[in-house]
Amino acid sequence: MSNLFRKKNINELLSKNNGVRLKQTLGAFDLILLGVGAIVGTGIFILPGTVAASHSGPAIVFSFLIAAIVCALAAMCYSEFSSAIPVTGSAYTYGYIIFGELLAWFVGWALILEYGLASASVATGWSAYLVSLLEGLNIKIPSSLTGPFNPAEGTFINLPAVLIVLIISFLLTRGLQESAKINRIMVFVKVGVILLFILVGVFYVKPENWQPFMPFGFEGVLAGGALVFFAYLGFDAVSSAAEEVKNPQRNLPIGIIGSLLICSFLYISVSLVLTGIVPYTELNVSNPVSYALQIVEHDWISGVISLGAVTGMMTVILVMLYGGSRLIFAIARDGLLPQVLTKLNPKHKTPDVNTWIFGIAVAFCAGFIPLNTLAELVNMGTLIAFTIVSLGVIFLRRNKSIPKGGFKVPLFPLLPILSFLACLFLILQLSIHTWIACGIWFVVGLIFYFVYGRKHSKLNN
Ligand code: ALA
Repeated sequence: MSNLFRKKNINELLSKNNGVRLKQTLGAFDLILLGVGAIVGTGIFILPGTVAASHSGPAIVFSFLIAAIVCALAAMCYSEFSSAIPVTGSAYTYGYIIFGELLAWFVGWALILEYGLASASVATGWSAYLVSLLEGLNIKIPSSLTGPFNPAEGTFINLPAVLIVLIISFLLTRGLQESAKINRIMVFVKVGVILLFILVGVFYVKPENWQPFMPFGFEGVLAGGALVFFAYLGFDAVSSAAEEVKNPQRNLPIGIIGSLLICSFLYISVSLVLTGIVPYTELNVSNPVSYALQIVEHDWISGVISLGAVTGMMTVILVMLYGGSRLIFAIARDGLLPQVLTKLNPKHKTPDVNTWIFGIAVAFCAGFIPLNTLAELVNMGTLIAFTIVSLGVIFLRRNKSIPKGGFKVPLFPLLPILSFLACLFLILQLSIHTWIACGIWFVVGLIFYFVYGRKHSKLNN
């Protein structure tokens, strides 16, 4: 039994890392850019439309606000962890140190779901914007090849989504480093097109479109909050960079919370403008942001926005696929997954077997499953990780062997408890299908742990 709760030793981990210390080069501003780069993707370009139409109405702004508050709470807990334990592996490693192996495995398994399906969802969003962009140029891809498997609607496979995942997987096996420079340019492109939308769109807002403001009641707003939560994911990626940050105690919290603030501002503004231009009932389209500008006959600007969205989303796919394959690498290195997943390509020094297996699985999901289903599953995986990080902070403070100093969640223990409850609350808003699908995922995970991981764990030595 005690095996299940064996822990990694923090001091060993920190000193081991000291031996092969990564170069500490990232400052607060780099982290904010990294965060915005990982956060802004499909969510903002699609969910304000689809979720307004089917769940929240114009009150989608409240959905975004609620999701932002939940994320801010969790972000503070992440900040405390990453500044106390600046090692890679994020929530998986925190779990290993604080709660022991079984829970670490559980979090790791949840995060594989998050990264994998997040890449798949962003790829489907990317595909929708690519199709609309190509249509603008009079190039038409048959619609049967641009949607999830749904013969009733005449769609069979989302081919562009499959292809982009495979292409980016290929790039990753070639050791393409996500260079800070490319990321920087992409962030400016993404934020630029979003600001362009807000600045142009604001002139076409008709306040009567905001009536009725809350057509589906407050319940709809909450259900919407659990969905748009997706749009904020990625800030936890900042904590994965912990080992490479200068003065992590100060810079990590600034990076995590700063990027979240910027994104909240952008998201809430876009939602207000979008539902102000087009009645929410008409927003259930796959490319709402550029669609709204077509309605007010700004085809040209709409094209620019699609182009920005298509480029910007590619970096999110890259970051998520990269994060997922490196997480699998870390778990396999600890012995909990088969060793073949740690095999490096002799020439490129990348875990290519792992990257391909992960990439192909993601491509499959992107090709056949609709975006909303994917997004809900992603949210479930992430919210589970967040609940554990929130609770973990309470145990982190009580653990005397961990060096103190650095960022502290204010109003302790009230905020971590609130964060835990808020995440739990959002989990309860997710649909029954999501619960069932996730249930199956975790049962498979647990079986795998008991049949394989427990026996092969490196902690056995
Ligand atoms: N936050 C990321 C997005 O919206 C997952 O695409």
